Amino acid sequence: MSVLVVVPTYDERASLPGTLARLRAAVPDADVLVVDDASPDGTGELADEIAARDPGVHVLHRTGKGGLGAAYVAGFGWGLERGYEVLVEMDADGSHRPEELPRLLERLAATPRADLVIGSRWVPGGRVENWPWHRAVLSRGGNTYTRLALGMPVHDATAGFRAFPAATLRRVDLASVESHGYCFQVDMTWRVVRAGGTVAEVPITFVEREAGESKMSRAIVAEALRKVTVWGVRRRAEQVRGLLRRAR
Ligand code: GDD
Ligand code: MN
Repeated sequence: MSVLVVVPTYDERASLPGTLARLRAAVPDADVLVVDDASPDGTGELADEIAARDPGVHVLHRTGKGGLGAAYVAGFGWGLERGYEVLVEMDADGSHRPEELPRLLERLAATPRADLVIGSRWVPGGRVENWPWHRAVLSRGGNTYTRLALGMPVHDATAGFRAFPAATLRRVDLASVESHGYCFQVDMTWRVVRAGGTVAEVPITFVEREAGESKMSRAIVAEALRKVTVWGVRRRAEQVRGLLRRAR
């Protein structure tokens, strides 16, 4: 299995070197692609320096802050073009422990087959460490709302630690993804489920970052709320249309 770990960065100078070192030690066979959005703090240049010393590390530079979703779409495109068989999402700030990645990859290789493996905080065995209570409430609430609106059997649809077989990404039409913020995670999960794919969740421990700042904002939460509501309404409308068709 050739694996590419895509790591989006925006102002992660303090965290990136440690995260990459741990990742290279935990999963030496996986290549890494840092997708930097012209971070003002010079994270992109720092990533170039690391890449110059380590042939397993690559860097994709984007021209400005375009959001997590756009960074991942660009990174996945880069990896699919180069024929990687598995594409992984992972935060740069240390919240996703590289040492847990082998468990995600093992699940992807196991049966029953999964079309997406999520490193989940909200299944038995999953945890969060040092998260402010309002973030935990937001994540729990967001996931409950998502599950009710979309009817997906997924406990952590907003999680950002996950592994996709390349075939799944080819099937979901990445070019049409419009979610910019963390809503991208729900968008991708919903696309996999709608395409008839299977989602597996592996418990992980999410550790709050020690350096730098979260890029979570009101706008990011609003985008997610708006989009999930629209998808939910659309799903209900489809269900009603289906019922009417059968009743005729
Ligand atoms: N290139 C790029 N562009 N990277 C970005 C951008 C952007 O606009 N915004 C955020 N990132 C990067 C960060 O640098 C970090 O590596 C990763 O994306 C996650 O961003 P954080 O700002 O640290 O996210 P968080 O800790 O608040 O949120 C976590 O939980 C969310 C909700 O459950 C993450 O795991 C998210 O993926 C998750 O959706
Ligand atoms: Mn974070």
